[in-house]
Amino acid sequence: MSYQHRYEASLGDPSAYWAEQAEAIDWFRPPTQMAGQTDYGTFHWYADGELNISYLALDKQVAEGRGDQVALYYDSPVTRTQQAITFASLLDQVALFAGALRRKGVAQGDRVVIYMPMIPEAAVAMLACARIGAVHSVVFGGFAANELAIRIDDAEPKVILTASCGIEFDKTLAYKPLVDKALALAAHQPEFTVVYQRPQLQAELQAGRDIDWQVFQQGAKPAAAVVVKGSDPLYILYTSGTTGQPKGIVRDTGGYAVALKFALQHVYGMNPGDVWWGASDIGWVVGHSFIVYGPLMGGCSSIFYEGKPVRTPDAGAFWRVISEYRVNSMFCAPTAYRAIRKEDPQGELARAYDLSSLRWIFVAGEKLDSSTCQWLSDLLQVPVLDHWWQTESGWPMTAPMMGWPEPSEARSGSTNKPIPGYDIRILDDEGHELPDGQTGNICIKLPLPPGFAWGIWNNNERFRQSYLTTFPGFYHTGDGGYKDADGYIYITGRTDDVINVAGHRLSTGEMEEVVSSHPMVAECAVIGVEDAIKGQIPLALVVLKVDVDIAASELETQLVQRVREQVGAVACFRHAVLVARLPKTRSGKILRAVLRKMATSQAYAMPSTIDDATILPEIEDALKQAGFID
Ligand code: COA
Ligand code: AMP
Repeated sequence: MSYQHRYEASLGDPSAYWAEQAEAIDWFRPPTQMAGQTDYGTFHWYADGELNISYLALDKQVAEGRGDQVALYYDSPVTRTQQAITFASLLDQVALFAGALRRKGVAQGDRVVIYMPMIPEAAVAMLACARIGAVHSVVFGGFAANELAIRIDDAEPKVILTASCGIEFDKTLAYKPLVDKALALAAHQPEFTVVYQRPQLQAELQAGRDIDWQVFQQGAKPAAAVVVKGSDPLYILYTSGTTGQPKGIVRDTGGYAVALKFALQHVYGMNPGDVWWGASDIGWVVGHSFIVYGPLMGGCSSIFYEGKPVRTPDAGAFWRVISEYRVNSMFCAPTAYRAIRKEDPQGELARAYDLSSLRWIFVAGEKLDSSTCQWLSDLLQVPVLDHWWQTESGWPMTAPMMGWPEPSEARSGSTNKPIPGYDIRILDDEGHELPDGQTGNICIKLPLPPGFAWGIWNNNERFRQSYLTTFPGFYHTGDGGYKDADGYIYITGRTDDVINVAGHRLSTGEMEEVVSSHPMVAECAVIGVEDAIKGQIPLALVVLKVDVDIAASELETQLVQRVREQVGAVACFRHAVLVARLPKTRSGKILRAVLRKMATSQAYAMPSTIDDATILPEIEDALKQAGFID
């Protein structure tokens, strides 16, 4: 059956299509309801089905005879550790930790915040929560205490799971003091925290609140997987929006399980027994979907990598991992390959390894530039496949279907064709559909397929406002782009105040709040400028208050420090440029869209609402002088 036939079937009768896909997973009780709609306009799938995703990822794999197969290859060049954890062993660890959580009163629906580095215990923690129906919320380790506190106050966890430290290249970063600081800032306090003590650093434990990971598990009884409903939340994952308050994307269990099973097999072309590598971090959606749940549910061995593409110890790190574990396919953000190419432009290091196990490479998270794509495919001699998705979708929205007999070929600059279930349309600002080749807002015609977020924690109205109201009847992705005559999608970039720094999604609004809180700053705009390795990096355009006197370099140092402390190192905020004024509309709104275009050297039209057009050349000069545009 052709792509077109299957795709059309998915849009023509979504319920029938997804009822068939749902048969691919083992339900405790199969669903009788397919799609339902929430009162704020999103979709939920398989609401009355009964399942447990931890059971599907572990117990079912063992029952099918994969007990001795490796579930997770933990590879940590930063600690010189390698571990092969079988499905049987992972099941034991997860069941024990789940039992320990339950013994301390953690029950179905309770939230658990996980703030951990890329160590297998983090996967154990996630799967243990899922096992007992607790809702986990993993917070990426590169976020500062203040960001962690915001998420703690929103998710109101009963428990926080953490580790003594993370390791970035050769730096040991203490995590526990960040948790302590976050708890000092947060209004909500968990009942207890559990701390995994790594040999590199022992964290101080606060009596009465902090429990050592090993002690916590001692004498616990392994817990069986509980029955959860298809519509029960599995996790909350915070992502950047346009304001300082991150959005707690809520994922259900049933739709997500079906979508991941579908994607692993049909999109990524992975079969049980294959080795898959999601080279990301559990703090991001990729980590949830395609380091932990997806590959394990699909019976694959998943690489759990604690390192970087470069300097751990060299730019051959990825090639070593591929060859050592016979990786069949992997996912990574293009920034990693740009970093490798910078250090090893001729790809000499790759030649030292046997990479013959590799079938193809998937990339996403930010724009794949054609030069990096070409370099990578020349070097590896396998298809390099760009595909597109976001935290909200939870799984790919456009991609080649590598598990199907004739997958759509990659096309330069495109993230390929829509996946079944995604009716992608390009709309102008008034909501009219645009002809092929014209750039507009990338939207998805409702209904949304299984696995897609169905809410924002504590604030479903915000979901409606953010995604469903601009274009009634459509989900607004926040990305701009176009379609070609053959239905291939091309992403041109975000149309809002979200930027992608080294594949990490960040809010410029959040950074603006921090910069504006500096006592000498009158106002500011943070925009994304191009960076050769990270794709984008943030830049603040700052207007000082009258009568303040500070050297530009001193102000920059102070602002950099502030953003580091309040948002986190991951923001990569390093530049602030002083300007006399910011361009605004007559009603006083900063013209961010124009600034965004200017900073990325794109043509822009003079907005009719601009208050003083002479400000634009001033800004352009400031950006040129600072070396951000030519
Ligand atoms: N815990 C604590 N700190 C972290 C962290 C974590 N999990 N991840 C990143 N940081 C810190 C880094 O140490 C760095 O701090 P510094 O300013 O003190 O040096 C800062 O955040 C920025 O990190 P990053 O943007 O990752 O830069 P880098 O120079 O450390 O590495 C790359 C650059 C390209 C090698 C790296 O970004 C990479 O491998 N990216 C792959 C993309 C990816 O995984 N994307 C995920 C979404 S798909
Ligand atoms: P995140 O929610 O962190 O996964 O980030 C999602 C955003 O990353 C999308 O909305 C896009 O802006 C961007 N993105 C993801 N994949 C791609 C891609 N293949 N090409 C260009 N941008 C992408």
